[in-house]
Amino acid sequence: IDSYAVIGNPVSHSKSPFIHTQFAHQTGQEMHYQTILAPLDGFEIAVKHFYQQNGKGLNITVPFKLEAYKLPTRLTERASLARAVNTLKFDNNEILGDNTDGIGLVRDIAVNLGMPITNKRILLMGAGGAARGTILPLLEQKPAILVIANRTKHKANRLHQQFITYGNIASGDYPDFSDQGFDIIINSTSASLHDKLPPLSPNNFTEESLAYDMMYSNEPTPFLRFAKEQGVRYLADGIGMLVEQAAESFFLWRGVRPETNSIIEILKLKT
Ligand code: ATR
Repeated sequence: IDSYAVIGNPVSHSKSPFIHTQFAHQTGQEMHYQTILAPLDGFEIAVKHFYQQNGKGLNITVPFKLEAYKLPTRLTERASLARAVNTLKFDNNEILGDNTDGIGLVRDIAVNLGMPITNKRILLMGAGGAARGTILPLLEQKPAILVIANRTKHKANRLHQQFITYGNIASGDYPDFSDQGFDIIINSTSASLHDKLPPLSPNNFTEESLAYDMMYSNEPTPFLRFAKEQGVRYLADGIGMLVEQAAESFFLWRGVRPETNSIIEILKLKT
């Protein structure tokens, strides 16, 4: 039976085993999916061990996505530009590295939430690894503009330069865009983890905006609470993105696309 796993530290809280087990059941795929806790200095050894045990694929989570970028013999374009890998596929002598986070975000927004990204004004908050993974998939949808705003301005400007040939981008710190409204505002910062809010302006929202937090937690994040206070009608956390990135990994491994909506609904009830 083909074996898969999510590898991270910590990893026991991961919802990936539940999601992939549901996918396998639903599509009739015979596979097994477990968690692997790797020591912080033992990621590569743990991956090699899994590979030698004839493992077929891995999902990579915190804090190993950058290290995982160094292992593949072949990278997809989106993983190469993200400089981070969340999915490995072992095939004969090849190790394929992919990054499905960005397409997961795009599918959740455009398909599940029914808000097409094409021709929209997008504000992406944050310029870390989480932001970088989403930029190419967002630009492929041809938004009117993708604004990258970050507290530390030069990091946003650096991402702008890296992706300048892929679409219409602007960058700066939050005050640079404080008078502009956006259709879709995405929080990729780690602020929510610390119960903090990026320094957004109320002007950044309109009533018709979508406020999307890539994090998820039992309680609405400070960003989603702030958006709601501004009268924003469409609010979403990262549960849908989580399930969609998993579906894309599953498709890469098994060649079958699972249905995602029912799993998203179950996870929403659980959290
Ligand atoms: P990740 O890989 O999860 O993106 P990271 O590379 O450490 O993590 O990046 C964290 C991002 O969250 C950065 O863009 C950071 O802004 P700075 O580059 O200015 O540090 C952003 N961030 C974290 N806390 C924040 C806060 N309270 N307000 C605004 N941005 C914050």
